[in-house]
Amino acid sequence: MPTIVFASPKGGAGKSTSAVLLATELAAGGAGVAIIDADPNKPVSRWSKLPGRPASLAVIDDVSERTIIRTIEEQAARTAFVIVDLEGTASRMIPYAMSRADLVIIPTRGSVLDAVEAVAAIREVKQQEEAFRVSIPAAVLFTCTSAAIRPRTLSSIEAEFAANNVPVLRTRLHDRDAFRALFSFGGTLAGLDAASVRNVPAAMENAQAFAKEVVAVLRANRKGAAA
Ligand SMILES: Nc1ncnc2c1ncn2[C@@H]1O[C@H](COP(=O)(O)OP(=O)(O)OP(=O)(O)O)[C@@H](O)[C@H]1O
Ligand SMILES: [Mg+2]
Repeated sequence: MPTIVFASPKGGAGKSTSAVLLATELAAGGAGVAIIDADPNKPVSRWSKLPGRPASLAVIDDVSERTIIRTIEEQAARTAFVIVDLEGTASRMIPYAMSRADLVIIPTRGSVLDAVEAVAAIREVKQQEEAFRVSIPAAVLFTCTSAAIRPRTLSSIEAEFAANNVPVLRTRLHDRDAFRALFSFGGTLAGLDAASVRNVPAAMENAQAFAKEVVAVLRANRKGAAA
């Protein structure tokens, strides 16, 4: 079933956070989810060892350049959603994972410097499309944005992406305490202690909207491919 790959050459862009949010939201809806933690620093694996991981969510972290394609294919054959979290630095796992992706999500913070890296990531996806002769849908995801204010920088970057036909997800993952807390306490947003973490309901709403949009994009792409 669909494979969603989180990639961006920019360290700290929000790949692991967004991957875990998507995975936990999909699992909360009852779907079987496998996250492949392809980052040698193993952030997702560390999260999964904390309490509260949904039963339908598995984390696989013993992957290498040699095994990543096989691992994705094995998981995709038996799980409703496969999510791959890649490391920021160059690795051959990046093109291999992209070659098997139904959607590559490129998280980026809303600054010009970050946007340049997002464009580089999109370019890399295009290269893999040529190399592997497959179509690889990709979209930018703005992360760590402000829920209250919408800086002019963000609007100008969006305009730049639109002018260059770079797809951007409508949902932005705002800068939320709860998203950071997930990696401190483990589990899901719903399992966080609302007394010690700020505004959990708003974070849940934000993450749900993100997961819903990803599912809609996957569906639309599948229909497009079948047409
Ligand atoms: N939407 C968000 N709200 C609050 N904090 C966030 C958000 N997204 C990311 N962060 C924080 O930013 C930092 C980097 O995020 P994360 O580890 O997800 O990025 P990454 O792209 O996976 O980094 P790396 O390239 O090192 O793998 C972390 O401290 C994380 O808690
Ligand atoms: Mg990461």
